[in-house]
Order: sequence, then C-alpha cells, then structure tokens
Amino acid sequence: MSFFVGADAYDRFMGRYSVPLAPAFADFAAVTTGIRALDVGCGPGALTTELAQRLGPESVSAVDPSESFVAAARERHPGVTVQRAGAEELPFEDDVFDASLAQLVVHFMSDPVAGLREMARVTREGGVVAASVWDHAGSRGPLSPYWDAARELDPNVRDESHLAGAREGHLAELFETAGLREIEETALSIRVEHPTFDDWWEPFTLGVGPAGAYVAGLDETRREELRERCRERLPAAPFVLEARAWAARGRA
Ligand SMILES: C[S@@+](CC[C@H](N)C(=O)[O-])C[C@H]1O[C@@H](n2cnc3c(N)ncnc32)[C@H](O)[C@@H]1O
Repeated sequence: MSFFVGADAYDRFMGRYSVPLAPAFADFAAVTTGIRALDVGCGPGALTTELAQRLGPESVSAVDPSESFVAAARERHPGVTVQRAGAEELPFEDDVFDASLAQLVVHFMSDPVAGLREMARVTREGGVVAASVWDHAGSRGPLSPYWDAARELDPNVRDESHLAGAREGHLAELFETAGLREIEETALSIRVEHPTFDDWWEPFTLGVGPAGAYVAGLDETRREELRERCRERLPAAPFVLEARAWAARGRA
C-alpha cells in the first residue's frame, strides 16, 4: 500500500493540496462549533487540524489504516483520539458522531459503499456524512498534469481516473447506494503556487500514493523522460496550480 510512507513525504506530496482543501470541505459538511466529528482516512491530519480548530480536539476522532500516519496524527493532534482502522470496519458504536468526513479517501477504500455505510452507521440520524475526491477523470485534479504526461508516454498507464468518486456524479451515486438521504454534490477548488518546477516534481519521487508508486517503478531513463514531459506541459515557474475536487454530503 503506497500510504505506508513517512508523514513528511505525504505532506510534501499531497498535504500541500489537501491542507488548503480542508476548510472548504469542512464548510461544505457544515462543521460548526458544538458538534462531534469523525475524520475517516485522516492521513497525518490535514482535515484533522481543521476539525480540531473548529470543534476543539476533544470533540474530534480520527482513523487511518496506515501505521505511520496514525503515529503522526497522534503526535500532531494531542487530545484528538486517533485509531488505526479502515472505513469499512469503524471501531465505534452506532450514532456517536454528528458528522463523519472522508477527505480524499473514498477512491482508496477497498469497498467504498461499505465504507460510506459504516460512516452512516456511526453518525446519528440526521447527522452529516461527507466525502471528497479529486476530479481525476476530468483532468482537473492537482496530479492531472503528471498523469496527463504519463499517459502521453504510455497510453496503457493506469492512472487514478477510474477510481471511485473521481468523476462527476459518482460520489452522489455511491452515497445513494449506501442509503444516505438529501444528497448534494458540488465542486471545491484550491490554488497552490509552485515557486520552481523542482518544487513541484521532487515530491513525486517519494513513493507516495499511486503516482509515487508509478514513478518508483520506472527505470532512470523513463523517469527522466516523464519528468521532462511534465516540465514541457506545465507553465514556466513560478506557476499556480488550480485544482478541483468533487464533494458529496448526505444525511444519515
Ligand atoms: C490521499 S490520503 C488523504 C489523507 C487526508 N484525509 C488528507 O486529506 O490529507 C488517503 C488516505 O486514505 C487512507 N486509506 C486508504 N484506504 C483506506 C480505507 N479503506 N479506509 C480509510 N482510510 C483509508 C490512506 O492511508 C491515506 O491516509
């Protein structure tokens, strides 16, 4: 699993995009003072930080299957209860949260509908279940310049566009199948400035997620070819990368 990496590598590769997504996603999920929330697939804690700031750490719980991320999230968020678990089998009683959120996780669940059903089970009736996934299929995710270049060099490359929730309307479909009510889907946008091309590229070599695993599997020549194809496709540095995620929310 390509998320068994250090938290620092994750921060540099994906945290740079998931940290700015967190406030918009928490707003969409209507996370406001006084509620108790669960962060599913918390990673090192991009969304956990936002939830703890809004609700106080004692009102936030978080889970992730990656041991290194659980350790980092615990260290970074004293007061938040962080456990090692996957969405498909949450270690909580029924109806204990007012809101359960999964930021950039549904597409990595082995069974997304089962994961969403579990999130609904641990959320009180009428509470909110929300999830977000980058728009990989629309080539509007933060990794899209990379996957577009990889596909140009190898049309058979298995990018992330086929994954659950990564195309318009699919998260809402999954929510419906999982039995959620009053479902709404929207697009959330972020903008991240990259001062140099190397600042953008280097984190792809750290082995994080499917993109990092793909780079790690290339020999030196093909890796260099991919790097240069990315450089050709991106604007001259410094450049701003605009990306969007699909987000859905529903009531348990
Ligand atoms: C792209 S990261 C998102 C992390 C964090 N939510 C963020 O926004 O930065 C995907 C996370 O999903 C976790 N994950 C993978 N499979 C999972 C599952 N079945 N249930 C819950 N989390 C899972 C990974 O360990 C990883 O931390």
